[in-house]
Amino acid sequence: MVWKPPQGIFEPMTNLRLIVNLGAGVDSLVGRDDLPRNIPITRITDPQMSRMMAGYVLFAVLRHARDIPFFEQAQRSGEWTYRHPRSPEEITVAVLGLGQLGAKAAHELQRQGFRTLGWSRSLAQIDGVACFSGMDTLDSVIGQADIVVLMLPLTPQTKQLFDRERLKKMRPGAAFINVARGSLVSQAALTDLLKSGHIGAATLDVFEREPLPVGDALWSMPNVLITPHLASVAIPATSAKQIAANILRVAAGELPDNIIDPLRGIKPRQSPCMEPQLQHTEGATGMGGPSP
Ligand code: GLV
Repeated sequence: MVWKPPQGIFEPMTNLRLIVNLGAGVDSLVGRDDLPRNIPITRITDPQMSRMMAGYVLFAVLRHARDIPFFEQAQRSGEWTYRHPRSPEEITVAVLGLGQLGAKAAHELQRQGFRTLGWSRSLAQIDGVACFSGMDTLDSVIGQADIVVLMLPLTPQTKQLFDRERLKKMRPGAAFINVARGSLVSQAALTDLLKSGHIGAATLDVFEREPLPVGDALWSMPNVLITPHLASVAIPATSAKQIAANILRVAAGELPDNIIDPLRGIKPRQSPCMEPQLQHTEGATGMGGPSP
């Protein structure tokens, strides 16, 4: 059972039958050259983990949607400053990455009444969520959102996908939430755009370097909320059952559940996109094309 295992750790393990990644993100295993051949690798896909993640995303989105940072600031200055609340239907939230965690978060957001857009590598289907896939739709999805939530896996294709150019496609003043991996984003560009106000605010749980180094500009930015990579964690009580069941499967000569492909991360889902119930802007409906 591993979490970010050091290079070469598997080599002496001649009786190895199963590798269990103790989390949802498999980026520390994908693409490495020291994995034993033909040994299945699994990850934790615990519904409780998805619920914990959805809770964090809901908290972060509602915090921005209800202007809580503005009121926190007003309270610090001892000011009773009224800002009229917007209703969720007026706010567009884009969830980028619709794996098990992203799909649950998108579902919860649309249940709250947010106009919810979803984007993923392979087309997803989530009731009430307008789903898109393919690189040709990504910028349009980002450009429609008041709040962008990053929930993509980190792969060689998604590394630095949110570079300066792409971050600039966000609506001026929009909020950015990253609960996935820091290396999906150019942190320097994100910091600059938060300073300039082009990105209005951010909730960041993950960073290019963790812990976020002392003195990093993000620490002291009033429009940034930082949490130390805990939006969702593996929950021992439920994860252990899943791991035990997989050990029994392997012992019985069967394949375990939740296998990942070490070359490219989690297996893509094959499902058609539901006809979106929400209006797409011009040019946002194209499907296919290269995708991460
Ligand atoms: C946490 O970041 C995880 O991937 O489980």
